[in-house]
Amino acid sequence: MTRLGVNVDHIGTLREARRTNEPDPATAAMIAENAGANQITVHLRADRRHIQDRDVELLREIVKTRLNLEMAASPEMINVALEIKPDIATLVPEQPNEVTTQGGLNCTAQFELLKNAARKLRDSGMAVSLFIDPEKEAIEAAADMGVRMIELNTARYSDASLYITPANQPQIDAELSKVKYAAELGAKRGLEILAGHGLTYRNVRPIAALSEIQELNIGHNIIARATLVGLDQAVREMIAILK
Ligand code: PXP
Repeated sequence: MTRLGVNVDHIGTLREARRTNEPDPATAAMIAENAGANQITVHLRADRRHIQDRDVELLREIVKTRLNLEMAASPEMINVALEIKPDIATLVPEQPNEVTTQGGLNCTAQFELLKNAARKLRDSGMAVSLFIDPEKEAIEAAADMGVRMIELNTARYSDASLYITPANQPQIDAELSKVKYAAELGAKRGLEILAGHGLTYRNVRPIAALSEIQELNIGHNIIARATLVGLDQAVREMIAILK
């Protein structure tokens, strides 16, 4: 079965909408784990728009599965990670005003910066993952950096499959083949393959069916469904699909 990492950022988004103290990402993490999530993922952004430092500290104490911290490869975030020591540090590109992460890391242009960041994190005991587009150059560069894992950016597949219609199917198939090719190439290079971004209850099956992909990180769609049916049920429904 493909493992599920539940991204609880948007529990923080809801809380920060009122700058108050609920709902709490830590409570959400406990519910998600209890429902079968294999990992809890949070993105501590430079602007702290959803997850706060205290959330990551609390999560470090209470998460019983694995804590995956998505972070920019900035000196500030590297210090936070070295202090908190999540199980996994996922390096992601970050732009100040983006609605969500736009595209994967530029592994060729930022090769040395990412390699050094990954080495610091790894030396302190974390597994390091790089969020990259499903493209040959990025995968080769990630493998050359010596990281253990890559998370393939499924955003283009997700955009294509937001509405699954016969007219959209050729584009959906084309984007799926890119993810498949990237997963196979990464696995051949000895990388553990994860994926995520924009995945939904409707479009996740073909991605989960790719045998090289071992884990998916899903946030927005699960939290969106949780607002209607509750987080426990929302997580269980996604796990049922991944089975
Ligand atoms: N993986 C990474 C690296 C991300 O930045 C995000 C969004 O925070 C996700 C997965 C989850 O994306 P979504 O919220 O669209 O499911």
